Amino acid sequence: MSGGKLITGFAVTATSHTLGEYRARGGYQALERALLGMKPEEVTGEITASGLQGRGGAAFPVGRKWSVIRPDDGETHYLCANADEGEPGTFKDRWVLENAPHLLLEAMLIASYALGVRHSFVYIRGEFDLAYRRLAGAVEEAYGAGLFGKDIFGSGFSCDVFVVRGAGSYVCGEASALITSIEGKKGYPRNRPPRLTVRGLYQKPTVINNVETLANIPWIIAHGAQAYRTFGTTKSPGTRLVSVSGHVTRPGVYEVEHGYPVGRFIHEDCGGVLGGRALKAVIPGGISTKVLTASEIEPHRLGHFGDCEDRRVLPQSAGIPHLEPLVFEGESLQAAGSSLGSGGMIVIAEGTCMVRVLQVMLRFYHHESCGQCTPCREGMGWLHRIVDRIVSGRGRPEDVDRLYEISRANDGTTICGLGDAAGYATVGILDKFRCEFEYFIAHGRSRYDGCLECLGSS
Ligand SMILES: Cc1cc2nc3c(=O)[nH]c(=O)nc-3n(C[C@H](O)[C@H](O)[C@H](O)COP(=O)(O)O)c2cc1C
Repeated sequence: MSGGKLITGFAVTATSHTLGEYRARGGYQALERALLGMKPEEVTGEITASGLQGRGGAAFPVGRKWSVIRPDDGETHYLCANADEGEPGTFKDRWVLENAPHLLLEAMLIASYALGVRHSFVYIRGEFDLAYRRLAGAVEEAYGAGLFGKDIFGSGFSCDVFVVRGAGSYVCGEASALITSIEGKKGYPRNRPPRLTVRGLYQKPTVINNVETLANIPWIIAHGAQAYRTFGTTKSPGTRLVSVSGHVTRPGVYEVEHGYPVGRFIHEDCGGVLGGRALKAVIPGGISTKVLTASEIEPHRLGHFGDCEDRRVLPQSAGIPHLEPLVFEGESLQAAGSSLGSGGMIVIAEGTCMVRVLQVMLRFYHHESCGQCTPCREGMGWLHRIVDRIVSGRGRPEDVDRLYEISRANDGTTICGLGDAAGYATVGILDKFRCEFEYFIAHGRSRYDGCLECLGSS
């Protein structure tokens, strides 16, 4: 497994969530360093120099987001940690909350100091139980030790934190919907501009960062931006928490250095595909990122689209222009037409019916559409119903083209990214596995139904 344990290094025992253990590993020393030895702008400068990018999905540079806020402009500012984590396949933020909640709290204090924030918020997914209890326990411990409240470390800096529980909506993880939900309203996303860093929570400048994004901050402040840049690659410094699920021998949360080969990660670190089967595909960063075939992950080993009959009809647009193995890095994933997204990797074994995979995904998007924008509200239902019809054996020859049409019509027409994401996911699967849909429509059943070798796999 590749190097750095910048986050997971804080969570190696069953009681690593406690304040005592966190402090024994050097916890809260970065906070002390920032409060007593750095100006707020210097903290932001260090984060900018580190090249840290957001881990919530869009990989937005953290320093650039923070730099919009002037900590001493006399305005009220807010910080929200996004712990909603609703993206299917993603469970790395939950892991941080359960195993190292003080890492998040220390990061929020450092960020609050840099941004001139007096009141900070954690918006935590409503279904999380242990994670919530661990976080609430850590908040209590931190207040008890004078780490929150007034005049922290005698620095004159004061900060409070409030934990807000969501109520089970995927859309509430979207930054503007999250703010609306904290304000006690229906969690609807809103159009930008104005940006949230200009007008956010309670109409005040607000920074929203993902839990894992924030969890990198204490390490960067403790060791410096240059030390951080020794991990990962020039364009993507540091590590990623990757939550792995699906047909894989050792699912779980792994910390992986950027630049590490994805194929090696699956076959060696995660123990390979469940039951020793061949790898068919991988959804690399939560279901909103485009699916990749085995040959796109290891083109140097498998050749282009050569390993599976399904790829016979692969359109030009889905081709990849390189023969390098795919690595954990934004640029590498982008070159293959996908992204690292939220780090939720789903491994799919050969023999899995991709029509049914898409059906499950569309059921989710349809259920979670907030209904505010017509193309998403109606489009999710259309997509879902068409794939349901194909799976029930009543598919029509024009269905595949109709799925493309609706996905493309959605693109860029909605306030938040849910409709776009569903469209990308649909087009991604159709581009690479179109013949499975055509088979299902022509025969009224999956090409894998009745295949003894495939039993139990889809
Ligand atoms: C429908 C939808 C759901 C989202 N859910 C989450 C989520 O659960 N957690 C998260 O960190 N970001 C989520 N995002 C992304 C956030 O809007 C935002 O970009 C992110 O929290 C910013 O943090 P970062 O810059 O640290 O990545 C979601 C976006 C969309 C469109």
